[in-house]
Amino acid sequence: PANIQAMRPLRDGVIADIEVAEQMIKHFIDKALGGPSRLRRRSNIVVAVPSNSTIVERRAIRDATSNAGAMNVLLLEEPLAAAIGAGLPVTQPRGAMVVDIGGGTTEVAVLSLGGIAHSSSVRVGGDKMDEMIVSYIRRKHNMMIGEMTSERVKQAIGSALAPEGSGTIIAVKGRDLVNGRPSEVSVSEAEIAEALAEPVGQIVSAVRAALEQTPPELSADIIEEGITLTGGGALLRRLDQAIAAATGLPVHVADNALLCVASGAGLASEDQSYRGILMAA
Ligand SMILES: Nc1ncnc2c1ncn2[C@@H]1O[C@H](COP(=O)(O)OP(=O)(O)OP(=O)(O)O)[C@@H](O)[C@H]1O
Ligand SMILES: [Mg+2]
Repeated sequence: PANIQAMRPLRDGVIADIEVAEQMIKHFIDKALGGPSRLRRRSNIVVAVPSNSTIVERRAIRDATSNAGAMNVLLLEEPLAAAIGAGLPVTQPRGAMVVDIGGGTTEVAVLSLGGIAHSSSVRVGGDKMDEMIVSYIRRKHNMMIGEMTSERVKQAIGSALAPEGSGTIIAVKGRDLVNGRPSEVSVSEAEIAEALAEPVGQIVSAVRAALEQTPPELSADIIEEGITLTGGGALLRRLDQAIAAATGLPVHVADNALLCVASGAGLASEDQSYRGILMAA
């Protein structure tokens, strides 16, 4: 409707609209504390930031968070937060690889001793997958679908590897591009796997490139322990298998993959053994 405007204050993990971001953080603080409260003024807040974010972007995050009512803002690199949330021993002198597949970006990081030995980020994630499904259905079925429908299709039958045969088939509703009327087509798991091949390939390439850049001692640990996937994108069916096939390494999807960054930031703020890896903003 004309009187409602949808906004996305964060883009690719950093703030795109500082005022709206501040309002959003306020809202979440109240929600976490169970209603508007003066406690807000005294909270310590840990914010996970993309490892490639700039000083200017990090300052914006600090400002928005303190304006929202935090007394003390600490930053934590996102891959470390993801790894802590996934239960990896990040402060040990061992190498571990975590691949966090979010909406906007996929971050690949090699961690050891509470720090990041190597990290890279590609602008591919769940949003790109949704876009690819929209354009595939437009091209192949002459039907326009919305973003939310596309995300539902991805969650229902999306897969990183093609099934044998056509796999599960579902009905998808949209608008016919020829006559403009509402319409419905059948879409198969195999078709969606084809639509997702490009973003999945980009994620796989990013992991392979990161492995090539990993210092040898840490590679040896990763060969043993494997790769851990976090973020909502990690829930795409058979993405672990696709990465395992391309790298020859064991790949695990973290428990609660969608929540790893948040739960890792929470653990880091509570557990003294993580003190050294939190950064003053
Ligand atoms: N079951 C699922 N299968 C495939 N994708 C999923 C599933 N559940 C959630 N996703 C996708 O995960 C993405 C959101 O993941 P997440 O919450 O980790 O991202 P984010 O942290 O908000 O983004 P970013 O890290 O890029 O800033 C969305 O694109 C969503 O469609
Ligand atoms: Mg994320």
